[in-house]
Amino acid sequence: MSMLVKKFSLNFLIVFVIRTIFIYVFRFAEFELDNSISMSLGLAIGLTYVQWMREDKTKMTKDYYNQNAKEFVENTLNADMTSLYNQFEKYLKKGDRILDLGCGSGRDSLYFISKGYEVVAVDYSEELTKMASDLLDREVMMLDMREMNFCDEFDGIWACASILHISRDEIEKVMANCESALKQGGIFYLSFKYGNKEAFRNERFFNYYNEGSFEDLSKRFPGLKVLETWRTRDVRVARKDECWLNILIKKEGFRVK
Ligand SMILES: C[S@@+](CC[C@H](N)C(=O)[O-])C[C@H]1O[C@@H](n2cnc3c(N)ncnc32)[C@H](O)[C@@H]1O
Repeated sequence: MSMLVKKFSLNFLIVFVIRTIFIYVFRFAEFELDNSISMSLGLAIGLTYVQWMREDKTKMTKDYYNQNAKEFVENTLNADMTSLYNQFEKYLKKGDRILDLGCGSGRDSLYFISKGYEVVAVDYSEELTKMASDLLDREVMMLDMREMNFCDEFDGIWACASILHISRDEIEKVMANCESALKQGGIFYLSFKYGNKEAFRNERFFNYYNEGSFEDLSKRFPGLKVLETWRTRDVRVARKDECWLNILIKKEGFRVK
């Protein structure tokens, strides 16, 4: 069963159960409830529950980065990302404008700045934003990628291990935000832990993709052409058994003549 069908069935079940509870509670109180009112109440509570679950996942993950910022930076700042930079830079030229989306420590922004790119670094964690600002000696924007609204601004988006924290019911919104932020012909790098599931791990929420499930997602964005997907091992020695899915996308878009 596809993820969407499972999610729809679960939400439907929640709404149905809440509605039934309502009917019995009101009946017990000898108050006859109109069917459409009980359905609307069930729906409203069900949707509030879904929104609450969604925000809870985001809050837990963000709290993790805020509470463990120092340790996270120590563990990731010196990771060797050379081979990934090389793949991304094949499509860029000096002076191009790059959005480092979910920049964490600021490691990759520091590299891109040193290579002569114009870099905008953003993250939603207050603590990581401060630490990255110190590293880069410039302002790092505090921004939630689900809310961003850049338009035709970037030649490249670098989203290294960051969109992986967005759940399947919100990832299309984030992909659309990235598509809008890219210029025509812009390049978009993103990476996920390899697999096909959503799960909590070490107090953070993760959305895993493999080639097949990412292809299903990318089909919903005809203006984004997947150029390459490839697998890598984690560059941190302690995590070398973990596999990553890397993706490079080009914004082609459609021009109306
Ligand atoms: C696994 S870390 C990767 C950090 C960095 N890109 C790297 O490769 O070291 C995930 C990063 O994404 C950020 N992040 C997660 N969800 C975000 C969101 N909705 N908006 C902006 N940043 C987000 C986290 O704060 C964290 O810095």
